[in-house]
Amino acid sequence: MRGASVVPRSLDWIDDELERIRAGELERRLLELTSAPGPMVELDGRRYLLLGSNNYLDLAAHPEVIAGAVAAARRYGAGSGASRLVSGSIDLQRRLEERLAELVGAEAALVFSSGYLANVSTIAALVGREDAVFSDALNHASIIDGCKLSGAAVSVYPHADMDALGSALKGEPGRRRLVVSDSVFSMEADSAPVERLAELAAAHDAILMLDESHALGILGERGGGLARARGIRPEILMGTLSKAVGSAGGFIAGSARLVELLRHRARGFIFDTAPAPATVGAALAALEIIEREPGRRARVLELSLRLGTGLRQAGLDARVGEAAIVPLMVGEPGTAVTLAARLRDTGVIAPAIRPPSVPAGTSRLRLTVSSGFTEAHVDEAVAAIVAASR
Ligand SMILES: Cc1ncc(COP(=O)(O)O)c(C=O)c1O
Repeated sequence: MRGASVVPRSLDWIDDELERIRAGELERRLLELTSAPGPMVELDGRRYLLLGSNNYLDLAAHPEVIAGAVAAARRYGAGSGASRLVSGSIDLQRRLEERLAELVGAEAALVFSSGYLANVSTIAALVGREDAVFSDALNHASIIDGCKLSGAAVSVYPHADMDALGSALKGEPGRRRLVVSDSVFSMEADSAPVERLAELAAAHDAILMLDESHALGILGERGGGLARARGIRPEILMGTLSKAVGSAGGFIAGSARLVELLRHRARGFIFDTAPAPATVGAALAALEIIEREPGRRARVLELSLRLGTGLRQAGLDARVGEAAIVPLMVGEPGTAVTLAARLRDTGVIAPAIRPPSVPAGTSRLRLTVSSGFTEAHVDEAVAAIVAASR
């Protein structure tokens, strides 16, 4: 007998939803590149200057990093086959974790398939319904999602406002209390007041978690991040391998007992297939270069300063921080989209960042440079942006 036909639930509402997205100038399109991420990229057979990649140290296509990926794939295969707890963990993973722990000055580290997963699953593993989390208003989405998933009471304090955090810590009880912040903010390019965060967390018996995604490889003498540069030791330090390290994956570093607990409780570690060997091999090779070539860090900061200063001197609202990122504030989503489209016509790709990635009224172009840019690239970018902004 033929089975009764299944009548699918109507998805007509999707058309309305997409229409709303388009009407708000919030539509997102994928640009199909046919090259590695920059500084110059290929799109539709044409070369563009890419001001939008987090490949800050130009390691994603570095020959040694690619060789690390290829060698790891040859030896261990293209896929890892299962969760590390199920099918075994390759020696490269252990070496990567040891290397990362050493870089950030922690006892141990645990690698996840992405930074997103590291944040979400660590927060959800450490706090729950009886607990409280204190989170900066401009924290990355993966922190926000981790807070939601944890079920803890979430107290969002205004961006970098330490008085507000202090009051919240006084007012919000909880079995465990976690203060969590980006160290360098991905959309603002500013740094969190990490010394004050550490003091407040200690004074109020809270755990401090810092997300070093945009500082790792860039700040600190050896690229160990902002906390290391400032002599702060957060109980939980999160980083990603997908930005300055030029590979993929994320990690948590901290005490050996923290890492041991996460191996048992972080669902994004337990129930996720281990990162592909090639990403692990690539990350290890990249970390060697980060150690060996400190000039890359200095260079990227020098170039982002040149970009930000050039734009500000032309009267534009560009933010300059200790980061490879230069946000150019424009306000409304439509303005950001128009500016990005004009720039694309002149051979420059600069991503328009709109709500929900940033608060309403603060749409911007999120410009990034890498150590592989030349001064001429930066000056060309400034000239193109200034002309397109008129
Ligand atoms: C501050 C911050 N945390 C976490 C992540 C997530 O890292 P990943 O891209 O490795 O998933 C990102 C980047 O996307 C980020 O900017």
